[in-house]
Parts: sequence; C-alpha cells; structure tokens
Amino acid sequence: MFQSINRFLTRCPLHLNEMGFARELWGIRYRYLQYREQWDDHCRRARSVILDAVARCTQRRTAVVFGSGWLHDVPIAQLAASFKKVILVDLMHPFSVRWFVTRYRNVETREADVSEVLVNVWNAVEKRETILPVSRPTMFLEDSEVDLVVSLNLLSQLPVMPSWYLNKYAKYPESQVDLFNRQVVEAHLDYLRRLPGVVCLICDIELITRSPTKDEVARRSTLYGASMPWDAVEEWEWALVPREPREPYHGKYLRVIGVPDVNRRGHVPAVMLPLSVR
Ligand SMILES: C[S@@+](CC[C@H](N)C(=O)[O-])C[C@H]1O[C@@H](n2cnc3c(N)ncnc32)[C@H](O)[C@@H]1O
Repeated sequence: MFQSINRFLTRCPLHLNEMGFARELWGIRYRYLQYREQWDDHCRRARSVILDAVARCTQRRTAVVFGSGWLHDVPIAQLAASFKKVILVDLMHPFSVRWFVTRYRNVETREADVSEVLVNVWNAVEKRETILPVSRPTMFLEDSEVDLVVSLNLLSQLPVMPSWYLNKYAKYPESQVDLFNRQVVEAHLDYLRRLPGVVCLICDIELITRSPTKDEVARRSTLYGASMPWDAVEEWEWALVPREPREPYHGKYLRVIGVPDVNRRGHVPAVMLPLSVR
C-alpha cells in the first residue's frame, strides 16, 4: 500500500517512463528489500568510500551526489552535517526520499540526466534519425562552489535503459548501439576528470556469475568496452542477486571499486599516508 502511494507520488517525465527508468528505480527498491542482508555490506562499504572522500575535502561548501536514488548507499546525515549544501542528482527522486530529506535544510534534490543524452535518444527514435546522439555532460563544470562530487553506482547503468529502448523501438545496427554504449561510459569518465573539487567514483566493473557453492561460472566487464583509468582504492563484491530462484540457482555478483579522489586533488588525511611521507 505504502509503495503504491510512494510510486503514485513520484514524478517521472514521459520520455524516462517510456525508456523504462521508473521500472528500474522500483526494481532496485524491491531487490534491496528482498536481499537487504546481503546488500548491507555493499552499501556500508560505498558509504565508507564517500566518507573517505569527504575527509579529503579541504573546503566543504557544496557536495553533489550523482545516482542518489533511494539513498541506500549515501551517508546523508554525515554529508548534510559536513557541507553547507548537498545536491542529490538523479533522473527521479522517489517521493519518500524527497520527503525524508526535508529534515535537512541544506539538502536539495535535483532531477537531471547526468549523461545529458537521454532526451536526444528519445527524439532520435521519435524522428527515426539514423545517427545516434553523443553524450557530452557539462553540469557543474563551471560551479566553483563544488568541493565534492560522488558518482555512485551509476556508471554501468548509464547506457542500460537507453540501449534497451533503442533495441526495442528502433532497430539500429548492433555495432552502432555498442558504440553508443561505450561512448556514454567514456564520456562520464572524462566528465569526472574535468569536474571541480574532490571527485569520488564508486562503480561496478564486472558481473560475476557464481554457482550455489560460490564457484565462479562466468565473468564479463560491465563497462561496454571502456577501460577504467583509475586503480581501485577499495574493492568488493556486491551480491546483486545472491541466488536466482530457478535452476541452476546461480547468483549474480558485481565487482565494485571505490576511488575516493580520482584526480587526487584532495588533501590525503595523515593516517592514510605511508609512514615515510608523514
Ligand atoms: C544502481 S542505482 C544506485 C544506487 C542508489 N544510490 C540507491 O540508493 O539505490 C543507479 C541510480 O542511477 C540513476 N540513474 C541512471 N541513469 C541516470 C542518469 N542518466 N542520470 C541520473 N541518474 C541516473 C537511477 O535512477 C538510480 O537511482
């Protein structure tokens, strides 16, 4: 009942609804509720990488979180207490999240497409264009008040729904959709490099299939052919679906990396430096 009201009160623009984003957002919530115990470790580790990034910020004016979603993996109380302003960015913010954050006077939700390509994808399909659009994100690039940006479990998700939509409604050649997917991921990585402040990246890089006895059955990249330019500072497995309900009861695990400061602009807390440089 509560979820139905929550869903009814959550805004979703037409083009995002048609591209399946509302379905995805609720899918994440249902999976979280179903596998909460197994997801907790992932969420705790993601929050810890974000707090590591906060510790590297020499100024704490504005913090921006891309992919805030349900806030499962966002240390919202600590961010609100540490920064003058916190901007949560997602395509859609569940009503319950918008309601929850009203307790923090300095936290705002912003509905925006971080890849800045989705409307153009939708238009390309509507107008039967033969060339696919290119992602060129610019949001916050010129905002000198931004001291922290977090890209949170979002990178591999960026092409998922647009490519599903392209394949379902437009029939572009597979190679063209593959190039689109890769370009969207590479554009986000390049964007992170250019953003101001400490830029923290938490993302999955591989999907691992495991047998019920946890043996590895298969592994593939989740980056669509893009390569990760930064080494992981933290690394763990997210038990996305610990065990499928059907035979052969395989589980889906994501290999997640945490990079608290991709451009190493931040101050590294003394406790993290090797003894020789303290
Ligand atoms: C896997 S979830 C991240 C987990 C999320 N923080 C949570 O608490 O559940 C990915 C999030 O990215 C958002 N997202 C996907 N594509 C996006 C885009 N182009 N721009 C902004 N947000 C996007 C989704 O709506 C979703 O909330």
